[in-house]
Amino acid sequence: MSQTPFEQAGSLRIGTVDFVSPDEVKVALDIEAPESIALNAGGPRPFPRVNSYVLIPVDDGFLVGQIEWLTVERSAFPKRRGMKDFGLVDLPYPLRKLSLNPLGTLRTNPSDTDQYIFRRGADALPSVGAAVVLPTERQLRSIVESGERRRVKIGTSPLAGDAEVCVDPNRLFGRHLAVLGNTGSGKSCSVAGLIRWSLDQAQRDCSRQPNARFLVLDPNGEYSRAFSDDAIKARIFKVSTGDAERALKVPLWFWNSGEWCSFTQASAKTQRPLLRRALREVKAGRVGVAEPTDEDRKLSLRRYLSSTLILIRRNLQSSAVKTEATKFGFHLQTIAEDLKQLGVDFPDHQLNKIVEAVQVALEARHKDGFDKQKQTSFVYFVAFTNEEVETIASALETVLSGLGGVVYQEGPDEDVPLSFSGTDLADHLEILADQENVSQYLDFLVARIRTFLSDPKMKAVIGRADGMTLEQWLADYIGKNNAADGCVSVIDLSLVPSEVVHVVTAVIARIVLEALQRYVKLNGVALPTVLVMEEAHTFIKRYKEDVENQDAAAVCCQVFERIAREGRKFGLGLVLSSQRPSELSPTVLSQCNTFLLHRISNDSDQDLVHRLVPDNLKGLLRELPLLPSQSAILLGWASELPILVRMNDLPKSQQPRSDDPEFWGVWVGKDEDGKPIHRDIDWSTIATDWQAGPTGTSDGEVT
Ligand SMILES: Nc1ncnc2c1ncn2[C@@H]1O[C@H](COP(=O)(O)OP(=O)(O)OP(=O)(O)O)[C@@H](O)[C@H]1O
Ligand SMILES: [Mg+2]
Repeated sequence: MSQTPFEQAGSLRIGTVDFVSPDEVKVALDIEAPESIALNAGGPRPFPRVNSYVLIPVDDGFLVGQIEWLTVERSAFPKRRGMKDFGLVDLPYPLRKLSLNPLGTLRTNPSDTDQYIFRRGADALPSVGAAVVLPTERQLRSIVESGERRRVKIGTSPLAGDAEVCVDPNRLFGRHLAVLGNTGSGKSCSVAGLIRWSLDQAQRDCSRQPNARFLVLDPNGEYSRAFSDDAIKARIFKVSTGDAERALKVPLWFWNSGEWCSFTQASAKTQRPLLRRALREVKAGRVGVAEPTDEDRKLSLRRYLSSTLILIRRNLQSSAVKTEATKFGFHLQTIAEDLKQLGVDFPDHQLNKIVEAVQVALEARHKDGFDKQKQTSFVYFVAFTNEEVETIASALETVLSGLGGVVYQEGPDEDVPLSFSGTDLADHLEILADQENVSQYLDFLVARIRTFLSDPKMKAVIGRADGMTLEQWLADYIGKNNAADGCVSVIDLSLVPSEVVHVVTAVIARIVLEALQRYVKLNGVALPTVLVMEEAHTFIKRYKEDVENQDAAAVCCQVFERIAREGRKFGLGLVLSSQRPSELSPTVLSQCNTFLLHRISNDSDQDLVHRLVPDNLKGLLRELPLLPSQSAILLGWASELPILVRMNDLPKSQQPRSDDPEFWGVWVGKDEDGKPIHRDIDWSTIATDWQAGPTGTSDGEVT
């Protein structure tokens, strides 16, 4: 016969409430309460156990509490019900007490009274003397299994009767996930598992290949094994070693000016402006282009006149024209010279009107001086009047309006990914340096660029790949329409030369973000994509903000900070995995809304994660140093309440390759099962391979 709720509550009773505050409830356990295993709640269950759940009936439901600590208090012998203790001496008795963190309320489901619904927060707190009961199996499961849209099962909860722990990918990936834990605690397996289980479930739900996109940035080259099976068939990009694999290419024309500056360590004063200008001009194709058309030439005339007009107006506004011994006069002189030249090419645009206006002003303000020391005469200009300058400006405007108006943009932005070759950039920089008379400041920079361009290791990654277009790159790395080519890209960074690995990572992450931004701009909706960054502490590392020359690591971190801040709007979710959370950029961490915490034993790392959660939920985190591998605490937006999860099993073939080296087996020549283990050495192949450099790249320069 089934029990009434009251009878049932009676039999599951374990104690009474002793003390109540909004964030802590203390309970005195009954003498009869189980000592180590509870057998009466529908299956053997460890009780009392820290971090397990108990219920306190309140109003129309139960307050759910999580056990924070257990203790024994020597107290007077409790009065036993229905028994008279005449003649007994009241010796102190070890009374068990426990403290609970109130987590939320469990109520019966109005549409199905057999089911329960768990909600965070409590409207009513129990009063002293209220009964405390063990949850039944169903109640326990409801605590973990409540919540809407539980789509993907990621594991089970050992503290809640092995209830299934499911997550909603929208929540898990939508607002960035951080997977943190010591080395060997199971982070990479969890990351690989989350991707695989999500894709498996999506495939089951829609019975076709899901339209999903995952990009895994993999600095240790662990993931190629995890995703190369037939079910996922990831696209794996690797620095070319000559095999048929896809070669990792991040051509140098993808880099924006910030990335160039950080990589070349260009100084802010002279080098950066010139580097920017060189990039702009190389991208505009001013170098080595075919014969320009009439339209091109007209446009360049418009650009020249526009920038001249802007310059003159700026000088007028700042009153620079009205200072004595002004430099403005020399500007005007060059403008007049340029315009005379252009007048030959463009006879019908009345450029001579401007030249006349300029010459009138120059003649009026021009003075002859004599340097007594050097015994030379020189020319200088005194203050111009506003009217003189205005006349020049209006002459410029008249000609410009005849040509179609001012062009404010000086050709393409230096950050647009337009194809050019590295040697062209270096050549052009040299020409610019000569023109501007700053060769002494630029020689070193140009030499540095040329050195790394001629390095075959670099060429393999950043060289201009044959015929590779931006479109192709996006289709390869982010994915084709409807993910026709698979849902996962693994970008193996392990062989990328260390001098460029930060820039390469930054470029990939930025291009992905900017591509998705443009997708939203043109389509009005976002294209959900997940970017996974393993070993995040090396790529998303705290950096000093007040340094003038940001190094490549800082530029890389800034890209991820941008993704953390803005990615959500463009459908880009970030998953980062790290063993040193305290070294991560605080900006990125604070933007992560979900955390999967594996074993963390280091003090500063523990402090950091403790700061991420509200006080009444800290109890569970105390278990962090003790977690076995494959167990983790899931907390944040993707989970109704912080729960301990035992992640699904990942078969060996689907685990990222991070096996510990097999010392003993190699020493004794056989593994656990007695199978022989060989490690033959042939250093000559290694030496030859080493000295040859990456295949097919030992000749010539990067182009
Ligand atoms: N879900 C799982 N299924 C099966 N085995 C697991 C699982 N999670 C962890 N393991 C075991 O734990 C080991 C270590 O896991 P993993 O390589 O993911 O650790 P990690 O935290 O990424 O370490 P590192 O910081 O060194 O990269 C694995 O080799 C595997 O044997
Ligand atoms: Mg790992």
